[in-house]
Amino acid sequence: MADTKTATLTFGDKTLSLPILKPTIGPDVVDIRKLYAEGDVFTYDPGFTSTAACDSAITYIDGDLGELLYRGYPIEQLANQSTHLEVCYLLLYGELPTADQLDDFTTRVRRHTMVHEQMHNFFRGFRRDSHPMATMVGVVGAMSAFYHDSLDINDPWQREVAAIRMVAKLPTIAAMAYKYSIGQPFVYPKNALSYAGNFLHMCFAVPCEDYVVQPALERAMDRIMMLHADHEQNASTSTVRLAGSSGANPFACIAAGIACLWGPAHGGANQACLEMLKEIGTVDRIPEFIAKAKDKTSGFRLMGFGHRVYKNFDPRAKVMKESADEVLDLLGVHNNPLLQVAKELERIALEDEYFISKKLYPNVDFYSGIILEAMGFPTAMFTPIFAISRTVGWISQWKEMIGDPTQRIGRPRQLYVGPTRRDYTDLAKR
Ligand code: SDX
Repeated sequence: MADTKTATLTFGDKTLSLPILKPTIGPDVVDIRKLYAEGDVFTYDPGFTSTAACDSAITYIDGDLGELLYRGYPIEQLANQSTHLEVCYLLLYGELPTADQLDDFTTRVRRHTMVHEQMHNFFRGFRRDSHPMATMVGVVGAMSAFYHDSLDINDPWQREVAAIRMVAKLPTIAAMAYKYSIGQPFVYPKNALSYAGNFLHMCFAVPCEDYVVQPALERAMDRIMMLHADHEQNASTSTVRLAGSSGANPFACIAAGIACLWGPAHGGANQACLEMLKEIGTVDRIPEFIAKAKDKTSGFRLMGFGHRVYKNFDPRAKVMKESADEVLDLLGVHNNPLLQVAKELERIALEDEYFISKKLYPNVDFYSGIILEAMGFPTAMFTPIFAISRTVGWISQWKEMIGDPTQRIGRPRQLYVGPTRRDYTDLAKR
């Protein structure tokens, strides 16, 4: 009977027996924590493709099945039956709330939607044409200069307040960044509105006329937020965990996560994807771009395709595609040329041997940009909306890590390939 409790590693004159840790679902994990101490060797995994950096009970992904579970609940069921605030409660506390718990949580979030009035001044230090992500990194990091009563990571109550503050204030800060970039006045949160409705209101309302939130757009925005809420140990979440492992305050950790999310290989892909669709422009130009994507020397990739974990359809893309059809029909733009290009690009790519062999499927960013554009958001606001949504995931993962009594500072090692020891030479002799 094969030993399923330990892995044996033999190299040189050494043989190590490494424990195998069993998950509730997913692959077994070889525990290599004693490898360097006992074997005097490191493992090598620069992109962390085969590395479990932590244990977590929050989100599970099966890349082959295309499955995504938040605390065990399938994303498809949550997207169709839940709300973003309820998903925030689930991710933060581990269980779906009762009606009373949801009411209390909603009230606590609503009580924190405004930002300190002095923070308005931060925005005025940015150029009007600043990317909203630059503003968000700065303003969220600056929250630690204002909210001194929720910086002590060792106080569970302060951790809780910091979590509620960020879930509540990120939409306000993102909306303020948008308003500042278009030269319109900031719009204060209206707590009678839903979480998603309030965000739409803060983005699109103006003082000179009433703004009525359209339920279908409110629902689509809420669904986009749910779909982006958490995603296991992705790059930005790993950034938040690593920053948090040093004891940095929660606002600084989330600002670090926002900075990482900004990259076009990660959360910046929704903006990059829409800009790519606009560059393609018409269906007849798709083959030219498919060819470029296959040409390694071009440096071009089909934005919105591929994923480190999903080697099947991203389950979020499927739900997003349904929303795209609904929103564009509602707005009377169902023959949106971008959506036509997106659908034809998806069809061609899914039939193409290159994409099939490399298991490159549309990911969450492929359709989200089309919905957000149809709603009237500029492409520069796509990643800030991703950041608003992912804040609860970052905070949940951060709380899980800080609450772990065995938690230590994250400090990877390296495969050193630089010069061996050598002596300094005087300038005159070089
Ligand atoms: C998100 O991690 C997460 O969970 C992230 C996220 C989340 O919710 O947090 O899901 C959100 O970031 C989604 C991904 C958004 N990014 C994009 O859409 C950008 C385009 N996609 C790629 O850059 C890429 O697919 C990644 C970054 C998403 C994944 O990169 P990997 O896993 O490191 O894969 P790779 O770069 O090693 O590529 C494998 C092969 C390569 O070819 P070979 O060298 O093996 O010949 O596939 C090719 C790549 O050239 N490839 C692509 C491609 N993506 C990968 N070729 C063309 N177009 C693409 N989009």
